[in-house]
Amino acid sequence: MSDFDGLVALVTGGGSGIGRSTAELLSGRGARVAVLDLVANDLPDGMFFVRADVTDDQSVRAAVEAVVERFGGLDVVVNNAGIGAQGDVSAATDDEWLRVLDVNVVGMARVARAALPHLRNSSSAAIVNTGSIAGTAGLPQRAVYSASKGAVHALTRALAADHVREGIRVNAVAPGTADTPWVQRLLDSAPDPAAERAALEARQPHGRLVSADEIATAIAYLASPLSGSTTGTVLAVDGGMDALRLRPRG
Ligand SMILES: NC(=O)c1ccc[n+]([C@@H]2O[C@H](COP(=O)([O-])OP(=O)(O)OC[C@H]3O[C@@H](n4cnc5c(N)ncnc54)[C@H](O)[C@@H]3O)[C@@H](O)[C@H]2O)c1
Repeated sequence: MSDFDGLVALVTGGGSGIGRSTAELLSGRGARVAVLDLVANDLPDGMFFVRADVTDDQSVRAAVEAVVERFGGLDVVVNNAGIGAQGDVSAATDDEWLRVLDVNVVGMARVARAALPHLRNSSSAAIVNTGSIAGTAGLPQRAVYSASKGAVHALTRALAADHVREGIRVNAVAPGTADTPWVQRLLDSAPDPAAERAALEARQPHGRLVSADEIATAIAYLASPLSGSTTGTVLAVDGGMDALRLRPRG
């Protein structure tokens, strides 16, 4: 028996990067997995793709209902879909603020809202949100994105409080900079991609980028019914970036 045997998991943003790794890991550990995304190419056999935009409430509700109809219920929601934003507060337009908060924060709330009636019917209900080191540490040129991820961490704790007595656990992961298609796009757009990559690696005490599989493992830990007493936490998966203060090498 595996810990996710018999459970149904919905992973938003499961078409790429961290979400993709999480969908594959949960599937490998016995879950029936649905991927909610704008696009998802080459999903493994047996994974159910529901096309939806987390900024569109109708499409989110329809996607959740399609998953429940297909698999007969819903136990685990991984709220992972998100977009980035670069720049300081002067550079960010109102449109950018509203767009990023709509995807990264309200998107998670929409998915949780649509899923809650089904999670209440599960004896292994869990939501895991993807936060970020940007939600806990001040990073340069990330004003809008950081505000959105700080809100994800706060939303995680608020949801955990509201639903603990219904048997629904809510947690988040806070990854450091991870080796995903998103970060590769950022590197590709830098004037010197190799130098930019080296700077990002050096910023993390363990000296490298975090892998998507390492974040998926943390998400699976929080989502697992074996973690029944863990709720309201934000688990750093950042090579020590948030918690450690190293002396310079020398
Ligand atoms: N990569 C990192 O360094 C890093 C670090 C910390 C946190 N995160 C967070 O991890 C999550 C996943 O990031 P990733 O690096 O895997 O990125 P990614 O770009 O590889 O994957 C993100 C996925 O979300 C989907 N998505 C975007 N907008 C959507 C929408 N409106 N509706 C539905 N799906 C949508 C995309 O289509 C894509 O498949 C994000 O929430 C991101 O903020 C990433």
